[in-house]
Amino acid sequence: MLNPGLASIVLATASISALIYIAYLYAINRTRLAVHLKRKGYHRCPHYQHKDFLFGSDWRDSLVVASIAGTRQQWYREQFATYGKTFETRIWGKRIFQTCDPANVQAELTAPATDVGAGPSRAGLLSWLGRGAFTMDGEFWRRSREMLKPVFKRTAISDMSRLERHLARLFDELEREGLEVDLQSHFIRMFLDFTMDLLIGEDVNTINKEASKIDVASFLTACDESQLQVVRSAQPWIVRWWKGWTKTWNQPLDATQGFIGRYVDSAVQDFETKEGGPIKRSDAFIDELIREAGSKDKTYLRDQILNVFMPGRDSVAIEITHVMLYLSQNPTVYEKVRAEVLAAGFRDDREISYDSLKTLPYVNAVVNEALRLGGPPNGQTVRDILSDIVLPRGGGAHGDQPILIPKGSVLYTQIRSM
Ligand code: HEM
Repeated sequence: MLNPGLASIVLATASISALIYIAYLYAINRTRLAVHLKRKGYHRCPHYQHKDFLFGSDWRDSLVVASIAGTRQQWYREQFATYGKTFETRIWGKRIFQTCDPANVQAELTAPATDVGAGPSRAGLLSWLGRGAFTMDGEFWRRSREMLKPVFKRTAISDMSRLERHLARLFDELEREGLEVDLQSHFIRMFLDFTMDLLIGEDVNTINKEASKIDVASFLTACDESQLQVVRSAQPWIVRWWKGWTKTWNQPLDATQGFIGRYVDSAVQDFETKEGGPIKRSDAFIDELIREAGSKDKTYLRDQILNVFMPGRDSVAIEITHVMLYLSQNPTVYEKVRAEVLAAGFRDDREISYDSLKTLPYVNAVVNEALRLGGPPNGQTVRDILSDIVLPRGGGAHGDQPILIPKGSVLYTQIRSM
């Protein structure tokens, strides 16, 4: 029998040798990579100084702390000030590139869809939103976009009266409540009403708490909770199980899918019973979608709606809240906006339309500036690198040399740090 003391020595020696071998392979690989990049004229970009190099838990922990404290954007700016406008991190063993360099963002946005996509990073959304314009890449994404375009044109862009109806209700509610109100929560309800009306043809009227047809608080909580579960789904299963997140995993997802699904069922039923003749919600997105898609597959239709509803449900409300905040802080800008809108003559006989809004350059500039300063809502975009690509800047001593972003890595653009 092997002496226990000797067994421990053998085990320890084998483990140390294995570790040295792994470190050796790692060093060789990095040297080879550095030589390969140099030969091709690319450079490496700075690396975040991880304490946990393998799983990147230190990066994630600091980000979570900053997010909870409401200082996430400040935290990102500090990282860019430390490492430069483009740097690399590693999370769960994956190479993640962070950039706020406009030249790199331009290169990313103009890269072919075969090289840069959003599908793999959004895979966690599939169990919630299904397959559609938001969750898919490639051919499925292209077909969904092509199908949605005319539907949007017919329902959203051509019909401003729907928006005006919901705005009138918002103003009534604001007048009823008096001078001090939480504008953001009102905008969120108003745009929820508008979006439901536009997509489903249902007037849920959540802006008026007494008349509301749905339990808006539970619905919005289910939406927020579903979003959180999707973010959590990026973590390995064992971590999710350990933290107890798997217990209630599907509840919010089922609740939101069921909510939209019921309206889809009723629209398909209407379409089937009244096919060829006029239908109840003739100008709603869902009815146009059934016609355009030529399908009555309820899951497919529900997924198309969810793929538009979820990314759009609160974005406009948050943007308008930002516009109002900045206007309240800049009275001179507010006066100019007001003067331009009054001069446009919408109060008289001129109708507000998609095209007429383009004739308000100052208002458009204010909206764009509010977007630059405050939006989009989560302040970042995430792209999967499907084939090796080159970004023009980030490498070398001054961060102005091209860098290679290899296939399989992920590129984050921090818009608010730009
Ligand atoms: C001011 C309001 C809005 C802002 C700032 C905004 C911002 C964005 C951004 C930045 C993306 C790209 C996300 C990424 O690639 O990671 C996006 C995608 C998308 N948004 Fe919005 N959005 C707004 C309103 C809406 C609305 C109202 C809807 C629907 C009614 C909507 C539906 C979508 C969809 C379907 C996509 C995916 C498009 C695709 O991948 O081809 N958004 N939005």
